[in-house]
Amino acid sequence: MRTIQLKNDYIELIDQTVLPKRLEFVRCQNAEEVAQAIEQMKIRGAPALGAAASMALAVTALHSRASDSGVMFRELKAATNRIKRTRPTAANLFMALNRVMKVAEESVAGSVKELRKVVVEEAEAIAEENVKINREMGRQGAQLIQEGNTVLTHCNAGALACVDYGTALGVIRAARDQGKEVSVIATETRPLFQGSRLTTWELKHDGIPVTLIIDGAVGHIMSEGNVDLVIVGADRIAGNGDVANKIGTYSIAVLANRHDIPFYVAAPTSTIDPQTRSGKEIEIEYRDPSEVTSLGGHKLAPDGIDVSNPAFDVTPANLITKIITENGVSEPSELDSLFT
Ligand code: MRU
Repeated sequence: MRTIQLKNDYIELIDQTVLPKRLEFVRCQNAEEVAQAIEQMKIRGAPALGAAASMALAVTALHSRASDSGVMFRELKAATNRIKRTRPTAANLFMALNRVMKVAEESVAGSVKELRKVVVEEAEAIAEENVKINREMGRQGAQLIQEGNTVLTHCNAGALACVDYGTALGVIRAARDQGKEVSVIATETRPLFQGSRLTTWELKHDGIPVTLIIDGAVGHIMSEGNVDLVIVGADRIAGNGDVANKIGTYSIAVLANRHDIPFYVAAPTSTIDPQTRSGKEIEIEYRDPSEVTSLGGHKLAPDGIDVSNPAFDVTPANLITKIITENGVSEPSELDSLFT
């Protein structure tokens, strides 16, 4: 099952807000619908956002009534600007838009039909590559997992966060497929519970043993010697190896360091953004306070209370043992080696 797919002239995606209660699909016919699905977290996770962004351009081209490719190009530009305003942190969203717009620009001198074709083909290629890349990343990272290991992961860096297979969960899946017995500790991941709702759902489906803990239990579980390694995904990796990922990742990295537990980040090279030189330059998304002050219609805090709700944090490179990509496993300080 794919998290997101381009079907004829619409996008079909799993609505991640209703899992694990229901497995439901939503359809998006245009860029505005995709933008709203992203803002409402129906689709989330850096690589999945890249696929959604590129497919938003594909449906724009497919539904365009333009008779001139210059007009269609302007429609694609407007769709790009709308999608760029949805979520600022995940590099893949911007990389995918830039990649599709680059081929569109190269074809703008041709016919409308040609322009439509290259945009759709590029979006489909991004989704297909995503799956291949995750499988290769899994193969590269699985060597870091030993027989009988327990891996702690945060948020959801699985098939749901990608097109299929996953990054951090892809590495765990690959280790299991190599015949290693591996179990997982998943943090619930406040405030939107991607860990408890999505990661446990995926692992249960695959028959990989998983234990759910609250975010605040990480230090205690580590101190009891119950974690062999940590693997998380990433939303953006700066040129110096600093990593932005789901809020709480930094705290887990500090605790892993304190307990001498290896801390790995698994991400495609499209998440590495060398133009962002360090984590300080990464824009952190702040989300609505209501995500913190209420849950399923129940009030969790008094009215009028001040709330800060950062969706991501930055883990400095010196707390990261290795970065796992489809091009190999690298020291965070040597990311250049992945591109040579
Ligand atoms: O806010 P989200 O759910 O989009 O955040 C997702 C994460 O932080 C993931 O860990 C990250 O995107 C990596 S997904 C392979």
